[in-house]
Amino acid sequence: MKDAGFSLVSAALQLGARTIAGWSREEESLAAGATALSSKTVARLRERIVANEDPLGEIFAELRTREERRDLGATYTPSGIVQAMLAWAQDQESPARVVDPGVGSARFLVGAASAFPRAELIGVEIDPLAALIARANLAAGGFGHRSRIILGDYRQTKLGAKGRTLFIGNPPYVRHHLIEPRWKAWLVQKAREFGLDASQLAGLHVYFFLATVLNAGAGDYGALITAAEWLDVNYGKLLRALFLGKLGGQGIVVIEPAAAPFPDAASTAAITFFRVGTKPASVRLRRVKRLKDLRDLGGGRLVRRERLESERRWSRLTFAARECPKDFVELGELCRVHRGQVTGANRLWIAGDHTTELPERVLFPSITKARELIMAGKVLEDSSRLRRVVDLPEDLGEFEGEDKKAVDRFLRLALKRGGDQGYIASHRRAWWSVGLRKAAPILATYMARRPPAFVRNIASARHINIAHGLYPRELLSEIQLRALVDHLSTGISVIDGRTYAGGLTKFEPGEMERLFVPGPDLLSVRSRQ
Ligand SMILES: C[S@@+](CC[C@H](N)C(=O)[O-])C[C@H]1O[C@@H](n2cnc3c(N)ncnc32)[C@H](O)[C@@H]1O
Repeated sequence: MKDAGFSLVSAALQLGARTIAGWSREEESLAAGATALSSKTVARLRERIVANEDPLGEIFAELRTREERRDLGATYTPSGIVQAMLAWAQDQESPARVVDPGVGSARFLVGAASAFPRAELIGVEIDPLAALIARANLAAGGFGHRSRIILGDYRQTKLGAKGRTLFIGNPPYVRHHLIEPRWKAWLVQKAREFGLDASQLAGLHVYFFLATVLNAGAGDYGALITAAEWLDVNYGKLLRALFLGKLGGQGIVVIEPAAAPFPDAASTAAITFFRVGTKPASVRLRRVKRLKDLRDLGGGRLVRRERLESERRWSRLTFAARECPKDFVELGELCRVHRGQVTGANRLWIAGDHTTELPERVLFPSITKARELIMAGKVLEDSSRLRRVVDLPEDLGEFEGEDKKAVDRFLRLALKRGGDQGYIASHRRAWWSVGLRKAAPILATYMARRPPAFVRNIASARHINIAHGLYPRELLSEIQLRALVDHLSTGISVIDGRTYAGGLTKFEPGEMERLFVPGPDLLSVRSRQ
């Protein structure tokens, strides 16, 4: 260790690091090289710590190279964020214990010590030098008697149950290629115990969330800040599932990079709020551009749990810039929007001369052209003129006699035409089973040189991927469904979708879900007008 390192250790010891519970052998060997600092230097450091500064943490950051800090994800949290997260915690019940997983220089614990004057303060840290600094800061602040620093890996720390616990901190951001295979195996196995899948590409922060779930009990709560990418990427799936499940996610605030949440990392951050054992019907999502907006962690928009369950990318749901008219909601709150099934080969799977022998029950009248919806007007009453899609069950054992022979003949023909080939067919569970979605109560076109056509589907027609189906999340009455179609048919301009060259307008399901529509109560009123 360089001289500055020895001085740092010396300062920590003279500030009282050794008095904090959990003193370890590793820290003792660091202490062996300590030299005495002048009492004036120590007094000045103490003054700054009491004034809420972190001089030792700052020296640490200079002492360790950027690479060394990157390998442990050691980026300490700016005070504005620490204070805002603690202010949120203060609005909840007081905890008996505060835990910072990856405590660093104990910025959160020192703040929590004043916010919760009776709580026990526990920091877990893998780096002995950081642990020493955390001890020094807690001792200098006068919180030594109720503090404990555990030197170790948070993933294998067993905190034990002890009253209501607040988990608060900034789990290390370390990319997967720096994570050892045995830990990757640990992640997969622990996730599996909860019936969840884990990706080997997950960063260390995902492990910390899982370890928090393993350590927490009902009633525990917390706020953890991380990079925001888990909201959207595939490896974040485990964290998203934990958020909606065991962790009891309450809300997420995304901090845009322009707000520079971390001085040395140009990334978008996300603060995740949770209360273990709860399952709120809606989750609060918010996006802030300036750090000062963090003072109030309320606000944002409420998004229904089902919507988060069905969305693979969450960050776009954090945008709420548009004014929602009174009593209106986003369509996605009322209905899920699903693109129709891709057949992989319409010439084969759409009925024609080659399917005349097939039993009726495998032929489903379906919307196969946008024009069919545009021509239908607001209600599709009759499906007899629609073309039919062949949708065989995965298990063909149910066919007997003539039906079986006809299905076998069709399958031989399908094989001859390469029906089992291609990306779509080869990714189906059974290549012969198109798997149409069930009939959507409302159907919509989504790509045309005109606003989409919305149609109430009382004919129970199916749809392939040239249309979207709107599936109500909760039961909507016939009256509400028709009022919704009325609104969507008149209230949408092409502006809401993306406009492509040539004026072609396209609505992805997610974009359609963001259209404003009257809420259920207003729909009932409107239908009476
Ligand atoms: C992003 S820093 C946060 C420090 C402090 N909580 C703060 O917010 O200022 C993450 C900390 O986790 C520590 N760390 C990294 N891997 C760890 C592990 N497996 N177990 C415990 N701590 C770890 C790092 O050394 C670092 O101090």
